[in-house]
Amino acid sequence: MSEQTRFLLSESDLPKFWYNINADSPCPPTPVLHPGTKEPVTPDFLSVLFPMEIILQEISTERYIQIPEEVRELYKLWRPTPLIRARRLEQALGTPAHIYFKYEGVSSSGSHKSNTALAQAFYNKAAGTKALTTETGAGQWGTALAMACKFFDLDLEVYMVKVSYQQKPYRRALMETYDAQVYASPSDRTQAGRAILAESPDSPGSLGLAISEAVEVAATSGGLKKYSLGSVLNHVLLHQTVIGEESLKQMDLANEYPDVVIGCVGGGSNFGGIALPFLRENLKNGQRTRLVAVEPKATPSLTKGIYAYDYGDTAQMAPIVKMYTLGHSFIPPAIHAGGLRYHGMAPLLCSLYDAGLIEAKAVHQLATFEAATLFAHTEGILPAPESAHAIRVAIDEALEAKEKGEKRVILFNLSGHGNFDLTAYEAYRAGQLEDFDYPEEEIAKIQARLPEVAV
Ligand SMILES: Cc1ncc(COP(=O)(O)O)c(C=O)c1O
Repeated sequence: MSEQTRFLLSESDLPKFWYNINADSPCPPTPVLHPGTKEPVTPDFLSVLFPMEIILQEISTERYIQIPEEVRELYKLWRPTPLIRARRLEQALGTPAHIYFKYEGVSSSGSHKSNTALAQAFYNKAAGTKALTTETGAGQWGTALAMACKFFDLDLEVYMVKVSYQQKPYRRALMETYDAQVYASPSDRTQAGRAILAESPDSPGSLGLAISEAVEVAATSGGLKKYSLGSVLNHVLLHQTVIGEESLKQMDLANEYPDVVIGCVGGGSNFGGIALPFLRENLKNGQRTRLVAVEPKATPSLTKGIYAYDYGDTAQMAPIVKMYTLGHSFIPPAIHAGGLRYHGMAPLLCSLYDAGLIEAKAVHQLATFEAATLFAHTEGILPAPESAHAIRVAIDEALEAKEKGEKRVILFNLSGHGNFDLTAYEAYRAGQLEDFDYPEEEIAKIQARLPEVAV
């Protein structure tokens, strides 16, 4: 067994292709419906929001899609990212398990979100787009897209969920440094925002609502602005597969293969990014790695939601997709993992979950901060509160292995650093954070919140 701690690839090992699970998945893609007609969407409808190359990737069944050279060149600013064996965490836990993590926090914007931000900015620029709109929860996606838009000389308008806008002023300052315009959502700039403000002036906002605002601005711009989404859609998960492809090579360098791969899920992109290449190995090469998606108990779409057609956003402007959902009008509690406060989940992951090909767990906020603090004490890195969900379950797996006296190889995705999340860590240390359970009575209401569709 190697005593190495960091498993590094060289620039020449940077993947040349993204991996598309839709080529190998036994689950056929479910139709995407127009929010007005509730009929399957046409490329014409989608082209109001996205450039054609992205629409083609969204529906592609090609197994490998070439990463444009311009995007690979920019990936080289921080990729390949390191795979690190968390030896000091293993020692602290006294576990026979081997714990590895893929560290996406080394990206220039601080998280995995840059992997798709660069690709989306590139395809928009190539199609002649001048400006983009987007939403951001924790601010990580907004930062990543702001950086990418600066690189490709595109203007950017960001609708930032109000609670994060207040909790993370430095995220906003960073986006503005990249010359993005940032607005707290709900804002009075859109019909969707004004409607919510009229109903509840103190609304903390939600990802679903911020998406409505960004979509509305793009859709009513007369073609001047396109919209960019940081998670949920197939093309976003596709762009994130560089994480899993690199991890496969790095586990090889470590001479091990994971028994379990873990990632947190908001819309599902970093989990999809690390897990889908391992799912390919399960499906095609006889591996049996467990793939575990971790969500907050406050927004438990996979573990408590209903698998049904629902709007992707609060104001019913985005397409209707089949997913595990808590209902598009659900405003999640103001937990500090802002990037995980979404009512639904990537349809692609939902179909895999429904087929039993991936697992899901829900964890409480306090337990994630406890895990993140132990991780910081042992490995030195301060994790993003979102990523702390994956750490929690990685630690639980390692403790279970200890109890059973089993050697278990655990790999998790550390999707981002938490250097802008210090308000949350301070609140945790001051004993001011609470756990939220998704109220049981809300579950009964989900069905009533769903659109009626003919599919
Ligand atoms: C660091 C980090 N991890 C995870 C997520 C969740 O998103 P996704 O499920 O798309 O990876 C976010 C979203 O903002 C994030 O900032």
